[in-house]
Amino acid sequence: MARVVVVTGGTRGIGEAISLALKNAGYKVAANYAGNDERAKAFTDRTGIAAYKWDVSSFDDCAAGIKKVEAELGPVEVIVNNAGITRDATMKKMNRQAWDEVLDTNLGGCYNMCKAAWDGMLSRGFGRIVNIGSINGQAGQYGQVNYAAAKSGIHGFTKALGQEGAAKGITVNAIAPGYIDTDMVAAVPAEVLAKIVARIPVGRLGQASEIARGVLFLVADEGGFITGSTMSINGGQHMY
Ligand code: CAA
Repeated sequence: MARVVVVTGGTRGIGEAISLALKNAGYKVAANYAGNDERAKAFTDRTGIAAYKWDVSSFDDCAAGIKKVEAELGPVEVIVNNAGITRDATMKKMNRQAWDEVLDTNLGGCYNMCKAAWDGMLSRGFGRIVNIGSINGQAGQYGQVNYAAAKSGIHGFTKALGQEGAAKGITVNAIAPGYIDTDMVAAVPAEVLAKIVARIPVGRLGQASEIARGVLFLVADEGGFITGSTMSINGGQHMY
């Protein structure tokens, strides 16, 4: 039986590539998204992957979302917590709202999603969770105290939950992408981005599909001995 996977933020950017790679590998994919109906519809038309709208920063919406996916596709055995936002600003300009939105979505979303699916994974004795962290959670980034804190939190969350799942057949891993060619990175001011790319040893931005390859590796049934790890995919920008 094909395993059911939920990819949050799964209709655009890195999430879109992950959804597609999983579908092509034979998984039954539910691609969650929060806001952009037009892009989600285009994604479903193009890929045949069902899109489910809810906000991962809402505890109740995640519980309801997982319930709906389970009713339509079957028990959720794999979760890829990819949904993430930026509200970049220096500390001087960063207001409380920019802090809360990023923490609630990027880190709170991981908790909300895992909590909603955890008991089912425990009862079935199988689960695969991959959390998308970031190079900026490992190394920090000017203008991103909110994002770096959330992503660093994801790396810690992964190690803690990995310990809880280890004896129960549930693996929990993270991927820390570097700068990937997506809308999020395109929003970085051009002159700032040029300086960042100049520091990437591989000499270019990454492709979303290069992150998706890592996800496929980690969620495989054969990956039962890999847990609590963080896989860096960053073109050599930060060797950790
Ligand atoms: N190190 C040191 N100083 C820096 C700096 C850096 N990396 N970046 C900017 N500064 C300095 C500038 O030189 C400037 O100094 P002066 O005032 O002395 O001239 C000062 O900081 C203000 O810079 P800006 O004019 O850029 O200020 P701003 O308020 O308009 O913007 C910013 C600040 C929002 C941080 C903007 O520089 C920015 O967006 N930077 C990019 C942040 C980034 O990399 N985000 C990643 C998004 S992608 C992502 O997050 C995905 C992932 O996981 C990798």
